Order: sequence, then structure tokens, then C-alpha cells
Amino acid sequence: MKKMTPQTLAGLSDRTKLVYAGRDPSEQFGFVNTPIYRGSTVLAPTMEELLNRSNRFVYGTLGTPTSEALEKAWSAISGAEGTVCVPSGLAAVTVAILSCVKAGDHLLITDSVYRPTREFAEGFLKRYGVEVSYFDPMIGEEIEKLIQPNTTAIFTEAPGSQTFEIQDIPALARIAKKHGATLLMDNTWATPFFFPPHEMGVDLAIEAGTKYLSGHSDLLLGMVSANERSWKALRSTYLQLGLCAGPEDMFLALRGMRSMLLRLKEQEKAALDVAHWLKARPEVEKVLHPAFADCPGHEIWKRDFKGSSGLFSIVLKPASQKAVAAMLDDLLLFGMGYSWGGYESLIIPFDPKPYRSATQWNEKGPALRIQIGLEDVEDLKRDLDAGFARLRAAHP
Ligand SMILES: Cc1ncc(COP(=O)(O)O)c(C=O)c1O
Repeated sequence: MKKMTPQTLAGLSDRTKLVYAGRDPSEQFGFVNTPIYRGSTVLAPTMEELLNRSNRFVYGTLGTPTSEALEKAWSAISGAEGTVCVPSGLAAVTVAILSCVKAGDHLLITDSVYRPTREFAEGFLKRYGVEVSYFDPMIGEEIEKLIQPNTTAIFTEAPGSQTFEIQDIPALARIAKKHGATLLMDNTWATPFFFPPHEMGVDLAIEAGTKYLSGHSDLLLGMVSANERSWKALRSTYLQLGLCAGPEDMFLALRGMRSMLLRLKEQEKAALDVAHWLKARPEVEKVLHPAFADCPGHEIWKRDFKGSSGLFSIVLKPASQKAVAAMLDDLLLFGMGYSWGGYESLIIPFDPKPYRSATQWNEKGPALRIQIGLEDVEDLKRDLDAGFARLRAAHP
């Protein structure tokens, strides 16, 4: 078998790339998968090599064959110069931001951001002298009006967490570039398969590997991929923070990666099916799914995205909390729990009103975020149908 080079890998389709990226059986005695390398100490053969750090691997926190396999694979998939793997999606957010802001800088963040990202900005960043302000996710090129002389970074997330606004990333990239600011994007929902971040102008792309890369709700992991401009600062911030991910988690991520696109496409199909069914329900006011016209930024999604994944939200017609609880508490297949991207369907109520600052959430009815897993869609619809019957009975 011929050896796969980065150049040959780059020329393959996404589906084939996923099979061959991040492994070299010739380095593993012919075994197909890169195994779990555990370890801190790496012995240097000579004092000169120890002092020059010229060995391929020097110390556990600086990289192992397992981390290198996942980083290289993710860079190949994302079209990135380099990738770092960290212990959670939230750590990926924080290391990415820390690599491009310092005291006195101004950071712009989308108002629809994942809430713990906002909490990091409000707590940690403000404490360390970084100025933070929020923008309407639908702002597009108008973001230029919010740029200050000290704005060094713009943080986006498309679609918005829970509320699903799709942002005009190429427009934000144009303005960021014009003003020398770094554009960061949490791309966990679309993944590089449905939105190639760096090709679209993003400097630092965040992926919570906990979600679709894992696919099995059994690990926590984050990745940040960088283009050439942002790679050096990202890698050095990551090393200074000692934020290396655990070897077992990276191994499981590499394993999950092989089937990631298949799961993603299956979950995309099932989520669209369930979302269309929900759209026709009398109890549902709105479906917030980027492939639906109800969703802010739907036209941008059609222009820039290659697909949608298995997560979306709905807004119900006004109903009491007790009625929503009656619907959710007795669901058989939809579990109530945080995170998403696994094989099992989930549902959670949410209310963004208390923490929005640049925009307002004006929906009157309760909102639910739905993750569609790998179950049969007809079973899922039956489960929701019975839930709606309980909702109606509790809130006639
Ligand atoms: C959009 C988004 N980004 C980042 C994260 C954080 O990932 P983790 O749970 O691995 O910290 C989440 C988790 O739900 C998320 O939804």
C-alpha cells in the first residue's frame, strides 16, 4: 500500500479523507488505528537531542502520536494551517480568545453566543482588562460601526446558540480583515463539512469535539483550527496554558471521526423530517432551523452552508411552565439533558431573555431546543405526539 501524504490527502473528497486522515499504519506495526499513547516523559537518545529538543516528541504536554494524529486529521478536514486539541469545547473557546486579545483590547461578541462563552467574557476577560461588547447576530457589514480603535477580535457563532440566527460570516470577515481584527467562529453546529470555516474567511474556528466528532456522548473535547495568520499565536497560547486533551478522549474522537459524516447526514435528514412535521403542528408557533424561512439568516444559510445538522429549536404557542413540564417529563425517547451531537435524541426548554444585551428575545411562547439522534423518526414523532397531547391536556 502506498503511503498517504498530506498532499494526496488534500486532494481527496471529505468522505475519503475521514477514512485516511490521522493515521499511518506503517508507524504502528501495520495496525490500522493510531493507538492511545499515554505519557509525560519521552526519553531523548542523547544529551544534545535533549537540549535541542530535536526529537519528534519531547514531552507529553507538547504532543504525542495520538494528539498529532487528531490535530493533523482535523487540519486536513478544516483546511487549516494547524489545530490544537483541548479538554472541552469551552476550553477551545477560551484558548482561541486568549490567543488574540490582551489587556486594553476590545472584543466584539455575537449576542446569540453560547452562554458560557459570554460568562467567560463577562468574568475572566473583563477582570483581565479586556473590553467586551455584543452585537446583533444579523448585523452583517454594519458591524463596522461598532469597530473601535482597540478592537482586535470579533467572535461569532453561526447559527446562534439555541436561537439559530445564521450570520453573514463573509461580511464579518471582510470588516475584520479591513481593520486588522481576528475573526473567531464557533462552528460546532455546521462542522467543517457543512461550513468550511477558513475558506470562508474565519481565522480561528472552534469545534466542540464533544458533539458530532464524539457522536456518543461519552467524551469531552475541543478543537481550535487556525489559518496561517493566527496559527503561531494559537499554538503558543495553547502551550503556555498546558491545555492538552486527554489521550483516551482523543483516541475516541479519532474513532468517532471515521463515521462522523455518515452520522451527520443521517441526523440532518431526520432533523429536517421532524422539523417539517413540527412545523405543521397546531401547538408550534415557529421552527428555528436554518433550512426554514422562519429562521433569521435563512437566505445566508442557503448561500453559504452545505447542509444542516441535527439540532434546532421550536417556539410553542403560549403555554404554562406546568404544561410544558407535563409534555417533557413523560417523554420516552427524548431525554432532558445538556449537550448534543450524540446518537440519542434530547430536548430542553430555554429562555434567552435574561442574558441578551444587544438584542431582545420577544417570543411569547416557551422555546424548546431539540437534538435528533439516530432513532427511527416515526418513533420520535409518536413520542412528541403523545407529549403534545399531555401539553394540551394540561393547558386547554
Ligand atoms: C455551540 C457550543 N460551543 C461550545 C460548547 C462547549 O462544549 P463542551 O461541552 O465540550 O465544553 C457547546 C456545548 O454545549 C456548544 O453548544
